[in-house]
Amino acid sequence: MLIDRFNRRIDYLRISVTDKCDLRCTYCIPQGFTEFEKPVNWLSFAEIERVAGAFARMGVSRFRLTGGEPLLRKNLPDLVARLATLPGVSDLSLTTNGTQLDRFAYDLRKAGLNRLNVSLDSLRRECVQEISGKDSFDKVINSLQTARDAGFEQIKINMVPLPGVNTGDIEDMVAFCIANDFILRLIEVMPMGVSARGLDYFNLLELIENLRPKYQLHESKRVYGGGPAKYWESADGRFTLGLITPRSQHFCATCNRVRMSVDGTLYLCLGQEQSMALKPLLMANCSDALLEQAIQQAVDLKPEKHEFNEKPDKIVRIMAKTGG
Ligand code: 5AD
Ligand code: SF4
Repeated sequence: MLIDRFNRRIDYLRISVTDKCDLRCTYCIPQGFTEFEKPVNWLSFAEIERVAGAFARMGVSRFRLTGGEPLLRKNLPDLVARLATLPGVSDLSLTTNGTQLDRFAYDLRKAGLNRLNVSLDSLRRECVQEISGKDSFDKVINSLQTARDAGFEQIKINMVPLPGVNTGDIEDMVAFCIANDFILRLIEVMPMGVSARGLDYFNLLELIENLRPKYQLHESKRVYGGGPAKYWESADGRFTLGLITPRSQHFCATCNRVRMSVDGTLYLCLGQEQSMALKPLLMANCSDALLEQAIQQAVDLKPEKHEFNEKPDKIVRIMAKTGG
């Protein structure tokens, strides 16, 4: 089992398959950003599979593919098929911005993908355009429909409320998720990279006090994924709301994950710099034992907590690099 210095069990790996994206969300990739990883440095699918296999042998059972926009990576369903059949993998999910999901939803499902998170910050198309830099609204809505037709259940919608931009859209989003049986996840913006660091976060602990009476929400005992989201359910069971509160109430003490970027670097925390490059080992065709040893050494570097509130200027890495 993978245990870190603070006695946290690591059972979840997020794998970024590309740092590129077709959108430029204001809290993520800065306009004009060009420092994307060169393709020669990307891990191949075989290398990703090898790393995932090593994590699985060490007790990690849950994996998520992320980016950037993971569906920009060619033949992603092939990678899904490889990972879905690895011994020890019990849950395989994908985070996507939804712009191309309608093309891939059926193949992803067939390949063995279990769960989907789709980013959507508003139901007003001009607001989606303002945040993401593109008029992507119709494509995302279409993708959500196709994903459901393809058999995905309990699809989660990720929304980052930004004061003065889309916070007024939260209740419409709640209604949309109730009507369509989506789980809504609200995420407090984290100061990563130059674009996100200047953004105010919307305090979700305060929001829930307002939403609670209206939808008769109670804290949910069910687990909807292995993450830090705290879930609330409506009295009639028709609505589930997840809150991710890295700013107003950090959850570092129960952090269970590490992340791998497209070049095979393990990042141990979104808000700290500790990392471990696995690519050199993979290129040298190291033994399984050595790979597992490197993974344990990386986990030993995992810091106690992020410092987003104390040092909001600290992290220059954007979310798309670490793997969101
Ligand atoms: N803070 C919080 N969430 C972010 N995401 C990207 N950048 C940030 C940030 N700075 C989230 C988006 C998307 C997911 C991939 O990562 O909401 O859903
Ligand atoms: Fe792309 Fe997601 Fe970053 Fe938006 S948040 S720019 S969709 S990677």
